[in-house]
Amino acid sequence: MTGAFIVFEGIDGSGKTSMCEMVRAELTKAGRDVIVTQEPTHDEIGTFIRDGVVKDISQKAEALLFVADRAVHTERIAQKVAEGYIVICDRYFASTVAYQSAPLNGEALDKEWLLEINRPIVRTPNVTFLLDLDVDRSMRRVNDRGEKSKFENIEYQRSVRTNYIKLAKEFDFVIIDGDRPQEDVLKDVMEFIREVI
Ligand code: TYD
Repeated sequence: MTGAFIVFEGIDGSGKTSMCEMVRAELTKAGRDVIVTQEPTHDEIGTFIRDGVVKDISQKAEALLFVADRAVHTERIAQKVAEGYIVICDRYFASTVAYQSAPLNGEALDKEWLLEINRPIVRTPNVTFLLDLDVDRSMRRVNDRGEKSKFENIEYQRSVRTNYIKLAKEFDFVIIDGDRPQEDVLKDVMEFIREVI
């Protein structure tokens, strides 16, 4: 069977991670070999980012780390897709563009530069879903999880959401209303996935 590359994007608390697992279960039931993966990865560069080893890193340097992690990750994804796997990825290049071009502590990066550094390393997904919902709702979910990262403040998330919606139009992402019961979201997502696999 031919492989596929499926991406989920969304602000923090949009439900991507649960949706990736639910889609994995559906596709596995249908007899497909599925891999769920995420960015930042849990490989060397992703772990380096997640651990916050470098303190006070500039936005630009951090963006380059996200992209370096993606460059290694994309090679692994391509290999698995070629072997016939359906690879489901929780965040991809649009995360870097949406997050790193949103103003954080007075600094925001140029969207075109962010797109440019991603261009040579990304693989075009078969489909990208944007799980979209109101920031007040998503932040309620984030608050329930406990400790918050530097990215998890309401004003920042609002501009990330705006960036995502623009990117969705530009890159033909499928926008899914994420403010519904998970079963309803899954039903919509699976309809699109069946068209591409
Ligand atoms: P997240 O998907 O929330 O990971 P986890 O739930 O496993 O901690 O990603 C961590 C944060 O990193 C999230 O707030 C989004 C941010 N991020 C960027 O700012 N740029 C990127 O390129 C990526 C991949 C993530």
